[in-house]
Amino acid sequence: MAFPESFLQELTARSEITDVVSQYVKLTKRSGANLFGLCPFHSEKTPSFSVSPEKQIYHCFGCGKGGGVINFIMEIENLSYPDAVRFLAKRANLEIPESAPDENRHRRERMLELNRDAARFFHDCLMAPGGEIARRYVDRRKIGGAMVTRFGLGFAPDSWDSLVNAMRDRGYTNAELHDAGLARVSKKGGGIYDTFRNRLMFPVIDVRGSVIGFSGRILDEGEPKYMNSPETLVFNKSRNLFAMNLAKKSKKGYIILSEGNIDVVALHQAGFDCAVASLGTSLTPEQARLLSNYTREVVIAYDFDAAGQKASQRAIGILEQLDIRVRVLRMEGAKDPDEFIKAFGAPAFENLVMRSENHIEYLLSDAASKYDLTVDESRVAFLKDAVALIANLPGAVAREVYSMKAAEMAGVSGEAVHSEVDHLRKRKLSAEKKKLEAEVSRPVRTNQPRVRSLRYENIRSAKAEEGLIRLLFADPSLLSSDQVLDQDDFSSEVLGRCFAELTRQIRSGGTPSLPMMAELFTGDEMSLLTGIIAEPQDMANSEKALDDYIEIIKMEKLTAKRGENSAAELNELAEKLRKSKGYGRKKDGGKG
Ligand code: UTP
Ligand code: MN
Repeated sequence: MAFPESFLQELTARSEITDVVSQYVKLTKRSGANLFGLCPFHSEKTPSFSVSPEKQIYHCFGCGKGGGVINFIMEIENLSYPDAVRFLAKRANLEIPESAPDENRHRRERMLELNRDAARFFHDCLMAPGGEIARRYVDRRKIGGAMVTRFGLGFAPDSWDSLVNAMRDRGYTNAELHDAGLARVSKKGGGIYDTFRNRLMFPVIDVRGSVIGFSGRILDEGEPKYMNSPETLVFNKSRNLFAMNLAKKSKKGYIILSEGNIDVVALHQAGFDCAVASLGTSLTPEQARLLSNYTREVVIAYDFDAAGQKASQRAIGILEQLDIRVRVLRMEGAKDPDEFIKAFGAPAFENLVMRSENHIEYLLSDAASKYDLTVDESRVAFLKDAVALIANLPGAVAREVYSMKAAEMAGVSGEAVHSEVDHLRKRKLSAEKKKLEAEVSRPVRTNQPRVRSLRYENIRSAKAEEGLIRLLFADPSLLSSDQVLDQDDFSSEVLGRCFAELTRQIRSGGTPSLPMMAELFTGDEMSLLTGIIAEPQDMANSEKALDDYIEIIKMEKLTAKRGENSAAELNELAEKLRKSKGYGRKKDGGKG
């Protein structure tokens, strides 16, 4: 463990979850022992994000995210585990023990150095005589020398080992090159080769100025057009935006969100130093949060095609949630900002930004464009769409204003539209509230974890494993002094690991703490575990329940082995199991 356990205990004790969460989320409702607010991790209108002061966990009934205080900071501040611990330590005024060995930190630092060296290498290759072919491509795309320098553009030569060799000379190991996503292991032979070959390289630089990954465009045509670094210790494309390191210094007061790296370069060249791109994904909530750290206004300039328009709508929903003003560009006559600027020039683009519609106007005219508003039937259909859009707007004034506007567009009275909007809004709110109440009072989760990779192979056993874990969290004294279950008796790998850590914590005399397990589990795993222990636990027959769970787990394991063992062996095992009944804490009694 990177940080001493005693330190983590102190840290989690001093970082009360409701205090920490309240700095980001308004906890407006109370239901039983839990507090509720709007989930910061997905978009919603009625609160389904719960915090349990008793269990010191958060859990969203809507999106399923959950964990302890360290996970919360990792998620919301977009930090790695050690950085989240440091963040909380600073907040709690706690000194981090000097000797804390920090293996990961060292690996991260090495990886960032390697990325920086690789970026320099690619840049040198672009400038060298061998980079002629890439320089010609850059010229053809009308990217000037100043932009090549500002973005640190580079060229990955058409060779299997030029980067690998250059980096080995600088002392990096094969494993380091592979972990950074810069090299791949060859199927035969096990040697490594360059990931990026014959591509124009865009370093992805985070807001701290570190090179965290790369995006490589093929020269001219071919598939895949772009290749991005895989997820690594330092690179997660859904949490970063291309050129955010530059845009954060812009004086424009807004940020332009586009799809492509080339668009970003073209925009900066045209004076829009506030342009970023979302690295080939549609905007994620994490990226939106990153934007919200630097601006209150985003201008969406996605490609002017069906996919781009759909992505715009999604982005609007996410940005709205964070109280960011959103405007959307209509780039008639060009497919993307790069093309637009080349065709019509920078002043025309500036004009487009000035005239861009705010998102609700955009959505309204988008809806209107689907109908012929001279036909009564279509006007009714349009108004139905419009009412649905307007009912979602958070402010009463905005709802009134846009009701008028939609009415005007369809040529009907404003009052009629407004009263439909109010009506729909009330219906929606009460439906959402009912749904939530049902979920909270009967939090029976579906049988399978949300995340595919964590799916249970044996539901019956997994449910017993969940029950056992929930019981032990609720009453650690139930853990018997003899080891009656092993980690590999568990059918679910993650539940087995949780059980192992749980027993370790209990046996070493501590109170089991999910928040302290943040380092051992991924975010998805944490969410699963939080969901399990967030469910209420009836302690009336806990010892009997514990024995039943253990029996189910053991029997399921035997059944699973049926394929491997002969019938005779199976009988023998079953017999043994029967004899050793009464696994519970009390050797005599309990079971009856
Ligand atoms: P575009 O195809 O619009 O790329 O994809 P672009 O940057 O505008 O490039 P040009 O103008 O065609 O040269 C938009 C973004 O989607 C990601 C890249 O980040 C790209 O910049 N993308 C695209 C991928 O990650 N992989 C792909 O295969 C294609
Ligand atoms: Mn494009």
